[in-house]
Amino acid sequence: MPFSDYKTALVTGASTGIGAVVVERLAKQGLEVHAVARNADRLDDLARRTGCVPHAVDITDTAALTAELRDLKVDILVNNAGVSRTGNILTADEFAVDEQVAVNIQAVLHLVRLVMPGMVERDLGHIVNVSSIAGVYNFGGNTIYHATKSAVHTLSRQLRVDGYGRRIRVTEICPGRVETEIFGRLLGDMEEAQRQFYDGFESLKPEDIADAIEFAISSPRHVNIGHVEILPTFQVPGGLNFERRAD
Ligand SMILES: NC(=O)c1ccc[n+]([C@@H]2O[C@H](COP(=O)([O-])OP(=O)(O)OC[C@H]3O[C@@H](n4cnc5c(N)ncnc54)[C@H](OP(=O)(O)O)[C@@H]3O)[C@@H](O)[C@H]2O)c1
Repeated sequence: MPFSDYKTALVTGASTGIGAVVVERLAKQGLEVHAVARNADRLDDLARRTGCVPHAVDITDTAALTAELRDLKVDILVNNAGVSRTGNILTADEFAVDEQVAVNIQAVLHLVRLVMPGMVERDLGHIVNVSSIAGVYNFGGNTIYHATKSAVHTLSRQLRVDGYGRRIRVTEICPGRVETEIFGRLLGDMEEAQRQFYDGFESLKPEDIADAIEFAISSPRHVNIGHVEILPTFQVPGGLNFERRAD
């Protein structure tokens, strides 16, 4: 749909990383962009730069989120906020389970529940969900992250079923490694994360993800870009483990 069909957008996880760049891009397209994250200072700075409307809210607080969205008509919803914590299911603590479920999938479900009925009524809308290659491939590490992103992957397809017959498009953006704060937040040490995950690697930049989102949104109205997998050229998922033992 040309951007001119849409008037408003709401982007979660807008204070930094992928979300901040997506806000900039959508604002440049002339949309009224609502930027959601917890860090009010960063959102205010983004608002000064882009003209977006800041909403400092924790998306896991469903009552606060509902109140914040009450009067909004959202044409484009970008479910981008996400967190990752260390630990597979053998090592993860209670917080890792609760936070990742709350941010990565519970809040996404509530946001769609709050916003999509209006899209159906107006016969116009685009939902963009940022999942991860962790949602579609298995590799060692953050099991809860994999599970929550896999839920986002399935939800993205299911929403097309729920919106069937209306002019509502759903796009899942499925990135590999992107240079943002996500690993620094995971380790609690931005410099160490830079060394471990980014130095010497040709990672994706938030702009690469924003390019894909802009492409999906600006596609002709009869085109739904359903699933976009974007990896760095030198990052490849895959592998098969087979432990040799006879007892
Ligand atoms: N970077 C990667 O390698 C990578 C790969 C695949 C997928 N992804 C996905 O891409 C998306 C964006 O991540 P990013 O890499 O840009 O990470 P990031 O730089 O760490 O940004 C995460 C954003 O989510 C917001 N957020 C976290 N918890 C929140 C909460 N409870 N309420 C409201 N906002 C919250 C943060 O803002 P506040 O702290 O201000 O609330 C921040 O704006 C995520 O869904 C992530 O899973 C990233």
